[in-house]
Amino acid sequence: MAVAIKSEREIELMRQAGRFLALTHLELEKVIKPGMSTKDVDRIAEETIRSYGCIPTSLNYNGFPGSACVSLNDEIIHGIPSDKRIIRDGDIVSLDITLSYKGYQSDAARTLAVGNVSKEALQLIEVTKQSFYEGLKYAKAGNHINDIGKAVQAYVEQFGYGVVRDFVGHGIGKEMHESPEVPNFDTGRRGMKLKPGMTITIEPMINAGRYDVEWMDDDWTIVTADGSLSAHHENTILITSGEPEILSILH
Ligand code: MF3
Ligand code: CO
Ligand code: CO
Repeated sequence: MAVAIKSEREIELMRQAGRFLALTHLELEKVIKPGMSTKDVDRIAEETIRSYGCIPTSLNYNGFPGSACVSLNDEIIHGIPSDKRIIRDGDIVSLDITLSYKGYQSDAARTLAVGNVSKEALQLIEVTKQSFYEGLKYAKAGNHINDIGKAVQAYVEQFGYGVVRDFVGHGIGKEMHESPEVPNFDTGRRGMKLKPGMTITIEPMINAGRYDVEWMDDDWTIVTADGSLSAHHENTILITSGEPEILSILH
């Protein structure tokens, strides 16, 4: 599949979408508390997204029943919001949200520590976030896709962590998932050359233990095979002729 190079107009819409998504994450960070259900979190996510005139595009995506993926502890991604799933003090909560604004998508994930979290869990969250920035350093015109994943992997493996292989970052624009795939590990193939105007996500999913995953019986939730904790950090970014621009944070 050909990779879309976005026009200046499209980039401006993606900046706006990204700003609304950043605001949504900041709102959730503020309100998340022990005792809330993952469905409560989803409801607040949906209300916040709609209050900005945006559309929660995960909702009904391939049948996904929520506006936010809410994944606790050993759940890596695609946690289904549920009234029965209560967030407890000491949990880590990965929130992955995609929205669109005037037809353009933005996709970002954060892992939050709720209450008193172990120092092991806090380190996992910090290293996962930093691994995004390690990958980002290589997200430059003239480099190749694999340079990003190589940097993510080299960084996190120093801590003995596992980089999930079965799910990857992606191009993004009019569609949530566009070409190319953006792995968070060294695939051994250099991949596509990066060009100004490409918009992609970098989204390391990092397990405290081994990288292997399992699917839950709900056909959505992905968990670590060894039961270890997992964290996720994702942003939508723009490749430029200079430094990459992170679209899904506030500037
Ligand atoms: N936000 C996810 C990603 O990073 C995709 C969500 S899948 C959905 O690619 F089904 F939950 F929408
Ligand atoms: Co996402
Ligand atoms: Co994504």
